[in-house]
Amino acid sequence: MTDADGHDSATRLEFVHVAQDPVTGLRACIAIHNTARGPAFGGCRMRSYESEHAAITDAARLAEGMTLKNALAGLPFGGGKAVIFQPEEPESRAQLFRAFGREVERLGGRYITAEDVGTTPEDMRAVNSVTRFVSGIPRSSGFGGDPGRFTAMGVFHAIRVAARTLLDQDSLEGLQIGVQGLGAVGAELCALLAAEKAELWVSDLVPLRAADVADRWGAKILSSEALFEAELDILSPCALGAVFDVANVGKIQAKVIAGAANNQLASLEIGDVLDTRGIWYLPDFLINAGGIIAVAREYLGTGSERAVRDEVQMIGPRVEQLIHMVRKEQRPPARIAMAWAERLLQREARATAD
Ligand code: NAI
Repeated sequence: MTDADGHDSATRLEFVHVAQDPVTGLRACIAIHNTARGPAFGGCRMRSYESEHAAITDAARLAEGMTLKNALAGLPFGGGKAVIFQPEEPESRAQLFRAFGREVERLGGRYITAEDVGTTPEDMRAVNSVTRFVSGIPRSSGFGGDPGRFTAMGVFHAIRVAARTLLDQDSLEGLQIGVQGLGAVGAELCALLAAEKAELWVSDLVPLRAADVADRWGAKILSSEALFEAELDILSPCALGAVFDVANVGKIQAKVIAGAANNQLASLEIGDVLDTRGIWYLPDFLINAGGIIAVAREYLGTGSERAVRDEVQMIGPRVEQLIHMVRKEQRPPARIAMAWAERLLQREARATAD
């Protein structure tokens, strides 16, 4: 099976909910992968899909990633994800998201949603008008809203650890770092890296976004293809998934890969090839957890800027732990991180059975 991004996929799900609403044009799929740790929590993506099959496969892979991510982040949630087919011309975006919210409500709390690529805090506000099983909403009373900057923060902590532990650099000053995708996460990541005097190379499909980052931080603009083949210290994919595949895995020149995009590897075997080539791949589901930490704490009512920053900072020590395990077990990082998450899930399942 192959999804919209070109991943190979054979994900086993607990439950899939497919919904259509002819009045608003909603076509959506909610995939619940694993609820051993708690209700499934993961964002809602809206984009064009070629077929229902491609949409369900995308939701399934993303839901599996959420299971791993939530477990490694120590959150009391399982993994799930929703996708909405981008309608040609929605009559009303708010109505579309209210219709989606009604589907979330029908699941009675088994799935909790938030933003992802193609959806906004305003959309989540519309969802919230019909269900409470939603997060990532700007709240007048305090903490909440778009979690992108926390995701960027987590990736930044991972990059710092990678620089120190893998590249023997105490600071990021002068390191050549490439960022693909300059949206909510990538642009914020560039700001953090520029503040540490890293040398930035960037690419985005939207030329204005790349120009803006170049103006602000002196970044140099490349095509994505050139960025992936550049001799960088660190490459940070922050656009969409499946960016490493059989066609380009032999051409990547960066020493370390550490980015926010979900499901960067077209398949686990691509991670093996990177490993054989001596390239460190820090798995997305370990280092891009900042956003889910923020929306989870917002949902639980335990979020504050300070508490979430502190929790996101813990991604750094987890990366250190992963590097230690990889060096000890001599297996690729993606496989080690998956096995680590699965051990946590099995422990949870045993505790529930006892
Ligand atoms: P976004 O939609 O705000 O930004 C994505 C950017 O990538 C856009 O500027 C787009 O033009 C660019 N882009 C798309 N395809 C490209 C290509 N082929 N080459 C160059 N640029 C390309 O998305 P956001 O929120 O910044 O998320 C980025 C990635 O991180 C996504 O894969 C998302 O699933 C993942 N992620 C985001 C989280 C968040 O808190 N926003 C949390 C965890 C993961």
